Amino acid sequence: MVYYIRFLKTPRLQKQKTGTLSASALICITTDLGDAFLAQDEDLVVTLRLAGNRKAVCQGPLQWQGGKRELPVALGPLTSSFVRQLMIMEITLRDSQTVGSDSLLNQREIPLVISGWSAPFGGPQSDVAEKIVERRFSVNQTVHLSIWEETGNSIARHIWDAAVASVMYLQQLIAGDQISSNTALSTLLQSERRSPLHVIELGSGCGIVGIALAELLPQCSVLLTDLPEVEEIVSKNIAAAQPARSSDLQYRPLEWEEELPNDLFKPPTVDLILVSDCTYNADSLPALVSVLSRLVKLSPHALILVALKRRHESESIFFNLMKSAGLESLSTDRMNLPSQYDECDEIELHCYGR
Ligand SMILES: C[S@@+](CC[C@H](N)C(=O)[O-])C[C@H]1O[C@@H](n2cnc3c(N)ncnc32)[C@H](O)[C@@H]1O
Repeated sequence: MVYYIRFLKTPRLQKQKTGTLSASALICITTDLGDAFLAQDEDLVVTLRLAGNRKAVCQGPLQWQGGKRELPVALGPLTSSFVRQLMIMEITLRDSQTVGSDSLLNQREIPLVISGWSAPFGGPQSDVAEKIVERRFSVNQTVHLSIWEETGNSIARHIWDAAVASVMYLQQLIAGDQISSNTALSTLLQSERRSPLHVIELGSGCGIVGIALAELLPQCSVLLTDLPEVEEIVSKNIAAAQPARSSDLQYRPLEWEEELPNDLFKPPTVDLILVSDCTYNADSLPALVSVLSRLVKLSPHALILVALKRRHESESIFFNLMKSAGLESLSTDRMNLPSQYDECDEIELHCYGR
């Protein structure tokens, strides 16, 4: 599993006894679920940059020690010329290939620790950065994703590992890499299309998967859906997105237990349904499968792409429920994410159709 740099306390300016200013924060390095901390030591670099032109103001080394649950960060003193200027704190691995973003270009380049960029702070409005963190991913030579997550413990407002693998998988299929025996999905994702591709994502969280698809594929209309609690963060990510030619992104709340609204999408059919890391809670699986089944009744030709990381035994009822709903498994592919001590972690990508 990959680990994520999280701000336990977002960056802030602090006045020292000497009257000078320094920037401080408190971070941890944890899993998507927040249930374990990175157990190996890692050398990190912390950099303060001006928000406007990304000029480095101050930089220093930082060491994460395995076994710890948090790490204080302090940089300074700041020279007076930078006081009251908006800044961003960036924390990356010292030896990573991160040059302004983490690479999702191929499995060998994904870093074990995903870097974090803070919201701007230190300007005339506020000395403390908002409680969000930006992830920056290079998906191919031209698509560079910017996705904001919350720093708190919400399940919905974070990026999960299966989403990282889904983005890589979709990128490779769109690039024409022979990574799957499933020609139906590869054909659907061809960029030369006669008509627009209509996609819905269920349980989109911050929206990284659907946003990546809309940025990678021209003529692709993506509707992100989740519970109302994600609206603010997903809207921020949609606003920052740069969809490909004739592609677009929208968000609508959609609770799996409720009726599907009649006007969910126009035209009233979809070609592809995306689901990433939504099978971790066995209690919600009947509702998830029921909404998938209802969507496929409306769009009998739709394909469903479900990305998941096996977290516990109970998740396997998902496959039985899909079978009982008449949803046929067309293919299963696997992507590896890095894990500690040079091991890797497997994400499964299941494609279904009727
Ligand atoms: C583990 S998160 C995955 C988020 C995102 N897909 C990702 O991979 O980063 C699971 C998502 O499913 C959503 N979810 C759970 N139960 C739901 C329900 N009954 N209706 C709609 N969304 C639900 C949660 O709000 C959450 O955003």
